Amino acid sequence: MNSRLRETAEYMRGKTLVISGATRGIGKAILYKFAQNGVNVAFTYNKNEEEAKNIINDVESKYNIKAKAYPLNVLEPEQYIELFKQIDDDFNRVDFFISNAIIYGKSVAGGFAPFMRLKPKGLNNIYTATVLAFVVGSQEATKRMKEVGGGSIVTLSSTGNLVYMPNYAGHGSSKNAVETIVKYAAQELGEFGIRVNAVSGGPIDTDALKAFPDYEVVKATVEEESPLNRMGTPDDLAGAAFFLCDNTQSSWLTGQTIVIDGGTTFR
Ligand SMILES: NC(=O)c1ccc[n+]([C@@H]2O[C@H](COP(=O)([O-])OP(=O)(O)OC[C@H]3O[C@@H](n4cnc5c(N)ncnc54)[C@H](OP(=O)(O)O)[C@@H]3O)[C@@H](O)[C@H]2O)c1
Repeated sequence: MNSRLRETAEYMRGKTLVISGATRGIGKAILYKFAQNGVNVAFTYNKNEEEAKNIINDVESKYNIKAKAYPLNVLEPEQYIELFKQIDDDFNRVDFFISNAIIYGKSVAGGFAPFMRLKPKGLNNIYTATVLAFVVGSQEATKRMKEVGGGSIVTLSSTGNLVYMPNYAGHGSSKNAVETIVKYAAQELGEFGIRVNAVSGGPIDTDALKAFPDYEVVKATVEEESPLNRMGTPDDLAGAAFFLCDNTQSSWLTGQTIVIDGGTTFR
């Protein structure tokens, strides 16, 4: 192992990641990236308890770390308060918090729609799941990070706030809002050694994207328009999330959004 990798390994080993929505897609890829690097993981699921159990068994046996899963509904952000109390009982520290979970299906009705069919309730649900859940989760994480002298907070964002995507006004506007809150949080939490950033992805091949009615069109367009001629994968974002938490690599990076879009935004 070269000295840079050794430095990262030493920094990461024995720390704790809290991440929402890690049963699938990008969250799951991030969870594995941290687990492979010796980080204990406290993660949430919404419906897929069975998959959460499978992940725990897999990462604990492969990587010699501790993993635990908790139910969470990001439409009720204050659930984070009790959730973190449970995490206190199960883990001795919190170092990283990644707000990743996203809602879909009935709860985005009127939020994931063309402009003329947008409805306040659907838009509010997306705002709650994206922005308010980030705020409450980050506040609870911050209280714990202060006790260990610092940490890193990351939210997932998306390039649907930079380029037009059909039906995406609700998500795109909430992603803009969360990127702005990231900048404010970064200003106010820096004094505690806490950095706050966003990872913004272009279209990534996950269940969330497959739920788009025009999924096949989006996929074909990305493959054609990306200079790298392929869709993004969850692993493409996991590396950036890990980098942003690795103080040996990104210690002066805060209040930023890293865009990982396969070159699709500048078209
Ligand atoms: N896919 C993309 O193209 C793309 C691009 C850029 C950014 N992003 C962002 O990346 C993040 C992850 O997206 P993804 O594509 O990986 O999604 P995904 O594969 O659909 O996974 C969604 C995750 O959120 C959980 N979840 C669903 N409803 C929830 C609720 N009400 N409360 C709490 N958790 C809930 C799911 O848990 P269960 O499995 O238990 O239901 C699952 O773990 C999101 O913030 C998304 O906006 C995605």
